[in-house]
Amino acid sequence: MLSRRALIAAAAGAAAAIAPAAKGRSTRPLAARGARIEKRTLYAGEMEVLLLGPGKPATKRFCAYNGTPLETWRFPKGTVLDVEFENRLPDSTTVHWHGVRVDNRFDGVPPLTQQVVPPGEKFHYEVPLADPGLYFFHPHCDESGQVGRGLAALLIVDDEPGSAPAFDLEQVIVVKDWRLGEDGQWLAMTTDDGASTAGTFGTVRATNASVAPARVEAPAHGDVRLRAIVADNTRVIDFGCDAKDSALIACDGHAIEPVHFDALPDAVWRMGPAMRADVHVRMPGPGEEVKVYDYRSAEPFLLMTLVAVDKGKPKLPFRPLALPPPDLPQADVRRARKLDFTIQTAAGATILAPPLPDGDPLAKALVNSFCVGGKTFWAINRTSWAAGPDLRLPPPLNVLDDGASYVLSISNVTKHVHPMHLHGHVFKVLSSTKKPNLPQVLADTMVVEPNETLDVAFKATRGDWVFHCHILEHMDSGMMGWFKIA
Ligand code: C2O
Ligand code: CU
Repeated sequence: MLSRRALIAAAAGAAAAIAPAAKGRSTRPLAARGARIEKRTLYAGEMEVLLLGPGKPATKRFCAYNGTPLETWRFPKGTVLDVEFENRLPDSTTVHWHGVRVDNRFDGVPPLTQQVVPPGEKFHYEVPLADPGLYFFHPHCDESGQVGRGLAALLIVDDEPGSAPAFDLEQVIVVKDWRLGEDGQWLAMTTDDGASTAGTFGTVRATNASVAPARVEAPAHGDVRLRAIVADNTRVIDFGCDAKDSALIACDGHAIEPVHFDALPDAVWRMGPAMRADVHVRMPGPGEEVKVYDYRSAEPFLLMTLVAVDKGKPKLPFRPLALPPPDLPQADVRRARKLDFTIQTAAGATILAPPLPDGDPLAKALVNSFCVGGKTFWAINRTSWAAGPDLRLPPPLNVLDDGASYVLSISNVTKHVHPMHLHGHVFKVLSSTKKPNLPQVLADTMVVEPNETLDVAFKATRGDWVFHCHILEHMDSGMMGWFKIA
């Protein structure tokens, strides 16, 4: 019988056969495309950070890009980022540009689109910023562990100057909890109980990396643009505020026909990990406040307070400000082929290999080399992503035609909510069997409720693209598949 180590070596060979060894160097020089190129260096590393607040112990081994927790990059639409990435972590990693329509080679998914970047090594990414909006980038390797310890950065792509409506204030809200012990040090990011249910939650809630919710001043009767993102491993929120007038104006960065919050399902916007929302809030009179909440908690959880200060803005009736319409590939829904997906537990699924026992050194080696977990709890259409000692990539969920339109009909037969994310595409939400008033937003990630079937449409773009749950432990334990589009 083959030893486990031999199995790893064999799997390494298999992975190498899947992803080219190239360092991601483009064959066509960027300048030839006439784009506005921005060269950037990016590194992932560990640092010490005060997460619990002043006077509390600092947290060691926080993971950050460029030495800045929640680093933010901001560029005008049309920029192409030419990124020299260096891995200064003690573990392998990659960078995934979540929601950005990159060439498949730069999508950051090992072993499908590239091999892992081992400690001390570099990888070159090209990231064209064609679509305005709020994005983020994060590793696609041991995501529960690395994102859990902070590794994520924001990417804001601005509309052409003068084309977007003017707001009196723009404010980013990052929802991301920390999983820390009393001593301020990390607890295990994943547990079997969590991974097999709603996920393992942080022990400390935080907004914009602070445990104390911020108070932010905005002009009385003014117009505020909130840009919210859930960057947590696990937490699903019901985003909203107590202002009389607020409207959802973009989802996952993409402008929509504004929808007043009163017209949304339960008058909130449900956001799972990776989802973003732009919200127009009309401020009340001088001295009054707007409280921004996660209404999904037993008691609404305060994310931020907006304080109306008198800057002499006249009080006008509320008209939501629409952002410039997006310029995205559109699915031809009438001609689209329908593909049915059931997201389910791994019970009855094809499990390619038995799980590894806890603490097995092989489990760490696997995470390091192949970025997968050691256990399988979930599946899509009875197939689970490679895990444990057997790292054969599952066959693609479907082989699709480049340029053709598809409707994904996603049925959740589990007891938990799953925010499903499709790489490389922006889809249009068509309908839900549970929420008749769900707006037809454009998105790259969308929650699917228990017993709900959600239909979304997209136009296929060439590449090998993964489709997975963005509750990171679910993804790490099987709820991931891929499309081959050629
Ligand atoms: Cu943020 Cu594979 O995703
Ligand atoms: Cu899930």
